[in-house]
Amino acid sequence: MQISQKMNKAINEQIGREFGASLQYVAIAAYFDGQSLPQLARYFYKQADEERGHAMRFIRYLLDAGAGVNIPAVSGPKAEFGSAEECVKLSLRWEQEVTKQIYGLMELAIKESDYTTQQFLQWFISEQLEEVSSMEKLLTVVRRAGEGGLLLVEDYLAREGHPEDKD
Ligand SMILES: [Fe+2]
Ligand SMILES: [Fe+2]
Repeated sequence: MQISQKMNKAINEQIGREFGASLQYVAIAAYFDGQSLPQLARYFYKQADEERGHAMRFIRYLLDAGAGVNIPAVSGPKAEFGSAEECVKLSLRWEQEVTKQIYGLMELAIKESDYTTQQFLQWFISEQLEEVSSMEKLLTVVRRAGEGGLLLVEDYLAREGHPEDKD
């Protein structure tokens, strides 16, 4: 195994959080879908796919490093929401939290002089910059439009798409 037991465990925990984020975004997408807001729904379904992709990236890394994959139990997502703003605020908080978790993994990799994991985590550090900044942008747009103006948000998203569409 090319990483420490401690790093292996920390990454398995992160895999659980990425899957947790994926479920949370599906729940938010379903809320928007149920409100007949297809663009917001699409945005969050896409976000959910991305989080699954993050979990898979960590799993691939553990396998490459000859480490054990042990996916923890994932608690159910929050399912009821009062407004679009609440959904996006929750998502932004989540992304800020994940950024801290990635920094935590990086700190451990630095402490252990684990250069391979440091290199691997660089991708996530750039990814979190993008995720936090796009969620902040969406929150600004949702607040500006207001709950009664969500069709403006739909127009905006139809025009701008999801940040990953451009990749
Ligand atoms: Fe993620
Ligand atoms: Fe994310």
